[in-house]
Amino acid sequence: MSEPFDAVQVIVAKRDGKVIPDPQIDWVVDAYTRGVVADEQMSSLAMAILQRGMTRGEIARWTQAMINTGVRLDFSGLGKATADKHSTGGVGDKITLPLAPLVASFGVAVPQLSGRGLGHTGGTLDKLESLAGWRADVSNEDMHAQLKDVGAVICAAGTQLAPADKKLYALRDVTGTVESIPMIAASVMSKKIAEGTGVLVLDVKVGSGAFMKDLDQARELARTMVDLGTDAGVVTSALLTDMSTPLGLAIGNANEVAESIEVLAGGGPADVVELTVALAREMLAGAGLRDVDPADALKDGSAMDSWRRMIAAQGGDPDTPLTLSPLTEEVRAEADGYVTRLDALGAGIAAWRLGAGRERQGAPVVFGAGIMLNKQLGDPVRKGDVIMTLYAETPERMSRGLSALGEACDGAGTIEVGDSPVERTLFLDSVGTRS
Ligand code: URA
Repeated sequence: MSEPFDAVQVIVAKRDGKVIPDPQIDWVVDAYTRGVVADEQMSSLAMAILQRGMTRGEIARWTQAMINTGVRLDFSGLGKATADKHSTGGVGDKITLPLAPLVASFGVAVPQLSGRGLGHTGGTLDKLESLAGWRADVSNEDMHAQLKDVGAVICAAGTQLAPADKKLYALRDVTGTVESIPMIAASVMSKKIAEGTGVLVLDVKVGSGAFMKDLDQARELARTMVDLGTDAGVVTSALLTDMSTPLGLAIGNANEVAESIEVLAGGGPADVVELTVALAREMLAGAGLRDVDPADALKDGSAMDSWRRMIAAQGGDPDTPLTLSPLTEEVRAEADGYVTRLDALGAGIAAWRLGAGRERQGAPVVFGAGIMLNKQLGDPVRKGDVIMTLYAETPERMSRGLSALGEACDGAGTIEVGDSPVERTLFLDSVGTRS
């Protein structure tokens, strides 16, 4: 079959700063997914998009073209509102785990399609697999049944949702073209719109451990994604939150599940609780529930009930012992003062090297490997106090984790103790919020 356009024509148009006409966008995305447009052509186009940008119209069309390469789920038959959250990824970001059952405990269904760890950022599915028997793969029929019965599902996105994105994301990852706001927005939103949720709350991370290192870029990404969702009929809003330092005290897999369970039991670190409650409030407001307080469901056990049912429905044992790896090393303060830097990227890379992340695609993660923070950014310390504890299975992994901590921040290290207290601001901005 002859093709209506030529990839070079599309590449040259974007290279020269022109707007790509709609039919050419539809074609190039589809033809790339079919293997007609070659990887080297798409990587050249991705670089042109990264450098020249896209208009709002082009981004919307590109997103729709990616959705059209796969199926679109439909939860309209459930008889319940549906709400989902997407985080752009960070270190210690286990919020999906307590959040999904928390929102479900108010009768709003949460179809949470999640991913695996990428680089230094952890993956929700890897964390949940620390629970014996838990299955990430759920068929569309079982997903519907679980949403009706339990109200929350956290599972792997099937290959049939926006397959163009799967292929394009892998290409961007190896061609230095990930950091393009139009392409990140289209990538995230094509999957979320195809997933069929009625309400979407975005947690756009800002700081060293996030894709977006500065607030202005993060605002632009948030605004672009909120507009894409709104135009597609999804009630969409965004919180911009700090990722310059890890969230909570646990970085890894099993330890992040344990910390999430503490939050569901009414305890847990204040930052994890505050962010979980703020995102739940926004999801519930989007679904029309404005007069409820999600914090109540963490205290009265109803969120914990939903969690136990959600884990059991996917074959998991909610009472699995969540143990850490046997080798430990403590990192101690070298002076009296305050923790003035506890860098998210440094801690994330160290946890990854310790074994919490994967070495290459498809490799297993070590559930018990990772880091427990004994102090957080801004805490006062005395010389010799333990700031963090590292966990690994082998001495080799431990030494790789320790060197990653030291090399972070261009050799200045992940941790700094100084004289003046610093304060962390968790909530930096918002776009289109209703709560
Ligand atoms: N997450 C995605 O799903 N896509 C991107 O491009 C970046 C982060």
